[in-house]
Amino acid sequence: MFVFGTIVLIFENQIFKRKKMNKLIGKVAVVTGGNSGIGYATAKDFIANGATVIITGRTATKVSAAASELGAIGLVADQGNVKDIDNLVAQVKDQFGKVDVLFVNAGIFNPAPVEAISEPHFDNQMNINFKGAVFTLQKFLPLLNEGASVINLSSVNAYTGMPNTAIYAASKAALNSFTRTAATELAPRKIRVNAVNPGPVATEIFSKSGLPEEAINGFATAIQQRVPLKQLGTPETIAKLVTFLASDEAWFITGSEYNIDGGINVNPLLAN
Ligand SMILES: NC(=O)c1ccc[n+]([C@@H]2O[C@H](COP(=O)([O-])OP(=O)(O)OC[C@H]3O[C@@H](n4cnc5c(N)ncnc54)[C@H](OP(=O)(O)O)[C@@H]3O)[C@@H](O)[C@H]2O)c1
Repeated sequence: MFVFGTIVLIFENQIFKRKKMNKLIGKVAVVTGGNSGIGYATAKDFIANGATVIITGRTATKVSAAASELGAIGLVADQGNVKDIDNLVAQVKDQFGKVDVLFVNAGIFNPAPVEAISEPHFDNQMNINFKGAVFTLQKFLPLLNEGASVINLSSVNAYTGMPNTAIYAASKAALNSFTRTAATELAPRKIRVNAVNPGPVATEIFSKSGLPEEAINGFATAIQQRVPLKQLGTPETIAKLVTFLASDEAWFITGSEYNIDGGINVNPLLAN
């Protein structure tokens, strides 16, 4: 009797597990900046949930290595370049016809104090983080199925006033505003548009920022202390939220933003 009960329990657990991992069966998903960090982890979670995934990136070798590790399709496109976006959309159209999930994730983080902001610094961050996001969504519009889900990867920096992040933060605040307007415009097609605002997450974005290693390590330790949960986020945990928003389970959610930040966006002035 006991053995039979245990077998039934294992069987039910397997079914339950399988159900949990089937959120995106039959869906075609595009993940921009999918060769590392949050994009990579999300592409992995999308695939584990049954989606066919196309990842993009700006560096051919990194894109093809990540795509073969993941079992995804890798396409090279600089998301800050509108011609590249056109080309990307044409390739996705040729190979897949339609898209169900668009994860607009590619981004860069280049800190600088206000007095050191140069025109190239401004243009580069705005081009990739904001202009690129706008034209990625716009150019994919004809391919998006009714009921498609668009998730824009923003940041709690849009709200925190953190020193040295003026342009990065502005690029993300602009993205959040764009998210709300796109959500209302696309609602008649039942296309949902949402934003995710992570707090600090351990990824390569900081080593690519141009800051020296000691400064990055010092920053990571200091910021971890400011997070009420006293931990940095992981790409995998951000991926879980994105997968939920991508799935039909989130059908009533659009024009919203989700902080996933260990509580850092709560005023930390009186926190230990
Ligand atoms: N990590 C955090 O603490 C944090 C917090 C809040 C929000 N975010 C946001 O999360 C997103 C992902 O960042 P991450 O932390 O996962 O960093 P990451 O590991 O550096 O991943 C960023 C991805 O975007 C790609 N990318 C950058 N510029 C691109 C361009 N012009 N065209 C195409 N691809 C481009 C990168 O390619 P390469 O490998 O060639 O650079 C990489 O694949 C970004 O939008 C970032 O702003 C991150």
